[in-house]
Amino acid sequence: MPLDARDQTESRTGTDPDFAIEAKGLTKVYKGQGKSGEKRALDNVDLQIPRGSLFGLLGPNGAGKSTFINILAGLVVKTSGSAKIWGYEVEDNPRMAKAAIGVVPQELNIDPFFTPEEMLDVQAGLYGVPKAERRTDAILETIGLTDKRGAYARTLSGGMRRRLLIGKAMVHDPPVLVLDEPTAGVDIELRQQLWENVVELNKRGTTVLLTTHYLEEAQELCDRIAIINNGQVVAHDDKRHLLGRLDAKTVRVTVRENLTDIPAPLQPFNPTIQSDGVEADGRTVMTIAYRPSSMTAGEIINALNVANLTILDLSTEETDLEDIFLQLTSRSKG
Ligand SMILES: Nc1ncnc2c1ncn2[C@@H]1O[C@H](COP(=O)(O)OP(=O)(O)OP(=O)(O)O)[C@@H](O)[C@H]1O
Ligand SMILES: [Mg+2]
Repeated sequence: MPLDARDQTESRTGTDPDFAIEAKGLTKVYKGQGKSGEKRALDNVDLQIPRGSLFGLLGPNGAGKSTFINILAGLVVKTSGSAKIWGYEVEDNPRMAKAAIGVVPQELNIDPFFTPEEMLDVQAGLYGVPKAERRTDAILETIGLTDKRGAYARTLSGGMRRRLLIGKAMVHDPPVLVLDEPTAGVDIELRQQLWENVVELNKRGTTVLLTTHYLEEAQELCDRIAIINNGQVVAHDDKRHLLGRLDAKTVRVTVRENLTDIPAPLQPFNPTIQSDGVEADGRTVMTIAYRPSSMTAGEIINALNVANLTILDLSTEETDLEDIFLQLTSRSKG
């Protein structure tokens, strides 16, 4: 039998843990080297990643994302606090913690003289997966490298290497998969395919933690999102709640008419006529803020029509995760 944290946990407690990953007061201070002083890369991080979630960890360069993931992977030693995987403290119970997690590191470190097939086999061996239980073919299929199974890794493209690393992380069928910037350098089509695989794994019960710079992907895929900046968690919420915090859009309309008062049909929308709104040729520029959760831009256009105004130009400003991200990360900089 391979070391399977799920079986072990079940026999131990009869239930899976509520949190696949749990950090409490997790802190990492890198010692200064030469001129550079010490760096507090993680500062008292509390983070609970529910079992079964597809969790996005977002943050700008140097925020501490990889440090967090590398502590889970056992590659970086924490300074203080606690980090648990599947209920096992990483440092106290490294064997069980490691068995429960598959980590795809940000760096593409691949032995150039192995083929994908060999690499998956060696990795399975390292995890004690018996030959009869290895899923090399299925994994090669999942990562789209079946036709490259016998090619030397050095002949693989960057995107293929990254997919191979994802395959390596899956050999022991861990209940938790952690991906650090999994789609960096992967082209759009393959990225789409990769995401589909990740979503599929998640649907089948694997908890997924990923970091990404592609906010729109996190927005599309993840059900929970945490934002980290300067080693601190600045937001952690259900995606809908997080986006709901910025449930605001702005419509900017230019109408031909020269308006001094707000026409009655538009009054419920509480528009502002910009101080420079009435242009030389008599046009008026109005901005209307609204909550997309309770109103559509169409209703505003209807009101403009009812008011008999001639729309010359209309634009909406989106608010999305990016706005939240920028708001939160700029606020916590000061
Ligand atoms: N081995 C190390 N020694 C010293 N400082 C380090 C080390 N590794 C990371 N750091 C510093 O810790 C901070 C967090 O780095 P980390 O790699 O965790 O950020 P990140 O969020 O993954 O960034 P990116 O988005 O660029 O991957 C940075 O200031 C980085 O310079
Ligand atoms: Mg990183």
